[in-house]
Amino acid sequence: RRPGHVSVVIVGGTGDLAKKYLWQGFFQLYVNQVNNGNTFSFYGGGLSPADQATPVLFDILKAVSCSKDVSQERCALLKEQFLRLSRYRQLKSLEDYQDLANHIEKKLEEEGMTEAGRLFYLSVPAFAYADIADKINSSCRSTNGAWLRVVLEKPFGHDFRSAQVLASQLGSSLKENEMYRIDHYLGKQVIAKILPFRVENKKFLDPIWNKQHIERVEIVLKETLDVKGRIPFYDQYGVIRDVLQNHLTEVMALLTMRLPRNLSSSEEVLQNKLQIFSSLLPLGKNQAVIGQYQAYRSEVQQELNKTKDHVSLTPTFAAVLAHIDEAQYEGVPLLMISGKMLDERVGYARILFKNDIFCLKNHNSIHCKPKQIVFYFGHGSLQYPAILVSKNLFKPDLINSEWKEVTEHSDISVLGLPISDYYVQTPTEQRDAYVELISYIYAGRKNSFISTENLLASWGLWTPLLSSLASSFPRIYPGGADNEGLLDIRLKGKDIAYNSEVVIISRDQMGG
Ligand code: BG6
Repeated sequence: RRPGHVSVVIVGGTGDLAKKYLWQGFFQLYVNQVNNGNTFSFYGGGLSPADQATPVLFDILKAVSCSKDVSQERCALLKEQFLRLSRYRQLKSLEDYQDLANHIEKKLEEEGMTEAGRLFYLSVPAFAYADIADKINSSCRSTNGAWLRVVLEKPFGHDFRSAQVLASQLGSSLKENEMYRIDHYLGKQVIAKILPFRVENKKFLDPIWNKQHIERVEIVLKETLDVKGRIPFYDQYGVIRDVLQNHLTEVMALLTMRLPRNLSSSEEVLQNKLQIFSSLLPLGKNQAVIGQYQAYRSEVQQELNKTKDHVSLTPTFAAVLAHIDEAQYEGVPLLMISGKMLDERVGYARILFKNDIFCLKNHNSIHCKPKQIVFYFGHGSLQYPAILVSKNLFKPDLINSEWKEVTEHSDISVLGLPISDYYVQTPTEQRDAYVELISYIYAGRKNSFISTENLLASWGLWTPLLSSLASSFPRIYPGGADNEGLLDIRLKGKDIAYNSEVVIISRDQMGG
């Protein structure tokens, strides 16, 4: 990476995402880079004229905050500089984009700065992507070899076909290495550490990371909120498109993919992920259970102005069972579960190991301590993100100096085990996913983003299931704390119950 000046343009710079996460992420980037001789300009772009949008943008910018280790005076100074480097620009017509490019070039020349790159973050609805990418391509490329990076947010299509159309439209303006498709789950600290954890602990994991030892893998995102206010979007997508096709599939790939020889090789990481997508067995209708929280139907009627007899079939809950067609994982159930309006907010991935020797059979129940590795994304009983390894499994090596062991013992229990029964590690400082991802974009680290090939492979997996479910009625669940035991999931002849404590219990494992 050449040191030098980077122009950051957030298109949709006064929108919700920018307000909540992006400006904070770019401020953090600025703070981290300011001492390295790198310089920045920040532009918030949008359709509104500058006189209307400038005050809105500055209100957002004034609200950014510094991390705890920065003194108040230093923070005030950094914020003042950040504000001075930022401005609003109307970005509507091709001329607006050309004017922006002229402005950037003039500024570089006047201030005698070497240009490193131009970063466009498209925080706008996906239907606008192709047009904006075209304008950027035709008017905002640097003429002196500086890089161009264009960041895109999901949804990247609605199914395989629409994702392919969008990808080919973008492909006519941008090169693959210029596109950064964001999946914010890949910026969550625990998820970003799945591969490093697997590499660091290879000597323990290699002998047990296979069908002989793994009972099942669960990737779970339970949410308590409803989707009120987002229904025009959500009703067209539903939970499978909203989180399973992207966030949960990405986590599943990180857990099961072949380890790259070099973690920082984007090519190898993305290629190994692709290989897992291609070896997933096709998903059929009988491998999914879908649900809809009770109030959803009337929320749809209200927000979409529909009559009382309108019935939406959009699922707000889904549990899906996948399998990988590879000898190493043959027959290992991979469960992906997510839903709105559930009894708790929690996200985790766990690898549950077979446990025969440690189970005590007592009358007609079995008492055993689970042997598991849990990648806990945060929320839920543990308020912090963490990697937990049952003490009856192995003592993991600490990933790196940014992670510490949790030693204080409390009476919290995580997925069936008191926390004191785990080795626990957590980041020394919690960082938002967007702060992480923005620093990766700046560093040109493509392995944490979604390539076109991988995106299409993931849609290829989900699209047949989505089509086969299109006219299925989801089961209605009450929503909130009453969900325990509500969704009984019958998969592959095994009875698997949805349970608020453990999420999944296979009854035949529990002794009938
Ligand atoms: C988003 C989905 O991508 O992820 C939301 O559109 C969902 O519906 C969210 O709530 C979950 O992300 P997080 O970071 O809050 O767990």
